[in-house]
Amino acid sequence: MSRVFVTRPIPDNGLDELRAALGAEAVDVFPHDRPINRDELLEGAAGANALLPMLTDPVDAEVMDRAGASLKVIANYAVGFNNIDVDAATERRIMVANTPGVLTEATADLTWTLIMAAARRAGEAERYLRAGEWDGWGPQQFLGVDVNGQTLGVFGMGRIGQAVARRARGFNMRVIYTTRTPLDAETERAIGAEAVGFETLLAESDILSVHCPLTSETRGLFGREAFQAMKPTALFINTSRGQAVDEAALAEALHEGAIFGAGLDVFENEPAIHPRLLECPHAVLLPHLGSATHATRAKMASIAAGNIIAALQGRRPRHWVNQDAWPA
Ligand code: DGY
Repeated sequence: MSRVFVTRPIPDNGLDELRAALGAEAVDVFPHDRPINRDELLEGAAGANALLPMLTDPVDAEVMDRAGASLKVIANYAVGFNNIDVDAATERRIMVANTPGVLTEATADLTWTLIMAAARRAGEAERYLRAGEWDGWGPQQFLGVDVNGQTLGVFGMGRIGQAVARRARGFNMRVIYTTRTPLDAETERAIGAEAVGFETLLAESDILSVHCPLTSETRGLFGREAFQAMKPTALFINTSRGQAVDEAALAEALHEGAIFGAGLDVFENEPAIHPRLLECPHAVLLPHLGSATHATRAKMASIAAGNIIAALQGRRPRHWVNQDAWPA
């Protein structure tokens, strides 16, 4: 019998699919709704044929070796898979899979939640109201920046970047973007976006939204120099991975007024937040909620389960990350 170790309870539909395909006994779910710790992860991984980790679980060579030769597949419950040492998995002939596509629209919606909240200082104003400090309407209270008619800069024009850019139409915006693989002309036209170099993106964006994967090229890319190159009225938004940003530099840029505001759903050292960032009234900070809708998380559960079932039944997982590097 196979054994699947799920590192945190996920929506029931995914667990039910695993049980139906592999047998109820095969599915071993870490019982607590909190991030699993290292010892618990190593213990749970021992002898598993499949792992279903969260983006908060570092799955490295030690974890894979603890599982041993029986481990066939690691199906991350996320589209991002920077928590997994993919090279180590490939060397051991372990398939790595993820959950792309289904969280695109939810993450784009959340990106726009941050854009609007940061532009209009919604978090700061709500805290003020709840604190009982509001003494009535004022002509200069909580003045923000416009979104309509401004320039949206997208860094990383993959699925999520494109979904964010499409929504900009409703706000009559110019959309510019910088990405690793430029869009073809037809897609560019359909989205109404214009490819530009990184310097232009920094200099011309009124709202700069980050949608890149975390790689050696993007780690720490948004630091002091980048923030100094932006407009003092600009907003910086990140719903991708926190390590693309030097959080201390961002906090300083906000305190100095080098940029107007920020909207962040992801952080450099989650769940820790840089203390200087917590002191920035113009930063809207959310606890990594990009894909957090009932429907999206259920779809992610189904895809992760499907990836495992396919791999354990000798088929190709639908979203197989290391298939190009697969040893012959
Ligand atoms: C992901 O899937 O990578 C998001 O960060 C969380 O859903």
